[in-house]
Amino acid sequence: MRILLIGAAGMIGRKLAVRLAADGAVGGVAITALDLVDVVPPPVPAGLPGRVTVRAADLSAPGTADQLAAARPDLVFHLAAIVSGEAEVDLAKGYRVNLDGTRALLDALMATGTCPRVIFASSLAVFGPPFPARIPDDFAPQPATSYGAQKLMAEILVSDLSRRGLIDGISLRLPTICVRPGAPNRAASGFFSGILREPLAGLPADLPVPETTRHYFASPRAAVGFFLHAATLDTGALGQARALTMPGLSATVGDQIDALRRIAGPSAVALIRRTDDPLVARIVAGWAADFDAARARALGFTVEADMDAILRVHVEDELGGRIVAPASAP
Ligand SMILES: NC(=O)c1ccc[n+]([C@@H]2O[C@H](COP(=O)([O-])OP(=O)(O)OC[C@H]3O[C@@H](n4cnc5c(N)ncnc54)[C@H](O)[C@@H]3O)[C@@H](O)[C@H]2O)c1
Repeated sequence: MRILLIGAAGMIGRKLAVRLAADGAVGGVAITALDLVDVVPPPVPAGLPGRVTVRAADLSAPGTADQLAAARPDLVFHLAAIVSGEAEVDLAKGYRVNLDGTRALLDALMATGTCPRVIFASSLAVFGPPFPARIPDDFAPQPATSYGAQKLMAEILVSDLSRRGLIDGISLRLPTICVRPGAPNRAASGFFSGILREPLAGLPADLPVPETTRHYFASPRAAVGFFLHAATLDTGALGQARALTMPGLSATVGDQIDALRRIAGPSAVALIRRTDDPLVARIVAGWAADFDAARARALGFTVEADMDAILRVHVEDELGGRIVAPASAP
């Protein structure tokens, strides 16, 4: 099986590449080639000697999609994106990469005539307020951001080309991935990970919203699991509806802090500093807090059952099982 992974230098893409290289197979079928692509050079994962190709390329540049499709991949993971904040600030760049880049990729893939399986990383940003308390699978998408609009347009392309038998596509609407590893970023949602990741590393973190704030989460490990499950799913069960809301854990910031206390103790919780950021609080108040995801659960997609499990994934996968005790509370 030949696999193409675009967005391979990103947070989820790197983890997916590591897992593919370690497994050496998908659904029992050996990986004969793994092409890792990103606009910045992706790291080379261990395993699959001689079968991994790494390239730095802009998906939206003329000719890139055709070059990638020329290898006639059987399975394509499309995770490359200009993410929410930047897509809102830079309208042209968001449309160029998220819509035009995706269109170019799908055009090139369908031209191969091989009907490859294509897994597209979509987002719950396809939905916009007003929200019911728990959003059902048939809630009408109405994006409230340009990023959400671009993801929805790409979903429609994936569904339409699949209906025509030109690709075999699935769009996965991912929850907010938590705990996001790496340095703190300036995404409005960044604190959901920061208030766990930083104290677990013995560092202070800011909390700009009330503890009652509720949101919808999955771990990076669960996200990788979603992509691998989608790779082998019987798409006959999907019918025309190729976009799936992924299961997630609906939890409040208070739930997050309670889990941190159970796993790392009160000294870690003491590293969380209450701050006032009306802009972040206002943005977050407009986000959905819970999704039903009954369809994806029935299709076998799974996620952590509680916030403790999400924290443990971070401790195991990012900290080598070790929590750094803070020298003293601030
Ligand atoms: N992390 C989340 O909470 C979350 C939630 C919902 C949806 N998603 C979606 O999942 C996917 C992966 O998310 P992530 O957190 O790993 O994002 P990320 O920003 O870490 O990774 C995206 C990658 O896409 C690459 N990229 C951007 N423009 C490109 C281009 N023109 N050509 C090639 N590569 C390009 C970036 O360099 C980056 O490495 C994205 O499509 C994102 O929109 C993520």
